[in-house]
Amino acid sequence: MPRVLTGITPSGTLHIGNYFGAMRPALELQQGGDAFYFIADYHSMTALTDAKARREFTHGVALDWLACGLDPARCVFWRQSDVPEVCELMWLLGSLTPMGLLERAHSYKDKTARGISPNFGLFAYPVLMAADILLFDTHVVPVGKDQKQHLEMTRDIAIKYNLTYGETFVVPEERIREDVAVVPGLDGQKMSKSYGNTIEIFGDEKALRKKIMGIVMDSRTPQEPKPDADNNLAIQLLRLVAPKEVAIDYEERLRVGGLGYGDLKKALFAHYWEYFAAARIRRAELAANPDFVESVLRDGAARARAVAEKTLVRARQHCGLR
Ligand code: TRP
Repeated sequence: MPRVLTGITPSGTLHIGNYFGAMRPALELQQGGDAFYFIADYHSMTALTDAKARREFTHGVALDWLACGLDPARCVFWRQSDVPEVCELMWLLGSLTPMGLLERAHSYKDKTARGISPNFGLFAYPVLMAADILLFDTHVVPVGKDQKQHLEMTRDIAIKYNLTYGETFVVPEERIREDVAVVPGLDGQKMSKSYGNTIEIFGDEKALRKKIMGIVMDSRTPQEPKPDADNNLAIQLLRLVAPKEVAIDYEERLRVGGLGYGDLKKALFAHYWEYFAAARIRRAELAANPDFVESVLRDGAARARAVAEKTLVRARQHCGLR
């Protein structure tokens, strides 16, 4: 059974673009068997220096994923920093990683180009990510396109270690999610926190209704037929959150004329709210029970660590540390 692993950055509130783009596919992969998911709190340190915020984001991400259906009985779910072996492996790998490779990293170049003054952690980010992956004998890493280069670097580093010190690591395959729907945001661009056009999964009902009712549409009257109904933003979002026949019905009514944009947006809000209703209840229950959430993460860490220790012993032996 191939082992699937991915890291989740604890970066605040999740939106439905995250859900349909990354979370749902990852949750579906749990069914296959050997899934390893962790909250990448070490990675968050390169950008965030607020201790309280880090703790809250990490806890929040755990709540979000558990509420949305992550099942700790079916996968291993832990907080990265609970398995600090990853930092030692980062050193072993980093000592074989050419500077030139890291200097070519897009994410590093983009951030420095935007004027962010880089720290060592940001520069070393791909090495930590390689350690995350190699420590757990990972076969497949499902990630978005933005992580493709990081995956290639992980493979390069693994191959180099194996050549230098003998077969030590599984060389992982990337699985880039090309097929997933790019979820449009409130303004029609790709939904993204940096565009400020998001619909959150969890949040205040009134504020979210206001956001959805505020989607700007054109000035055609309700009666006018709209042959471009399939391109309508509310229809596209409705397709994600409403039963198929309901979305088709709304699209048809918009196409032939007679359906007003206000009513369409009301329907979108109602279906969106309903879609996440069970998760919302579950999240509230989990939030009221932080000890339980903590015990889930600790239990996951113990299971992850059992794998990590073996890999690290092997890596240390092969390079002559002991
Ligand atoms: N860098 C990834 C992101 O920003 C998160 C991540 C950290 C990760 N370590 C990983 C993803 C290991 C896959 C495997 O999304």
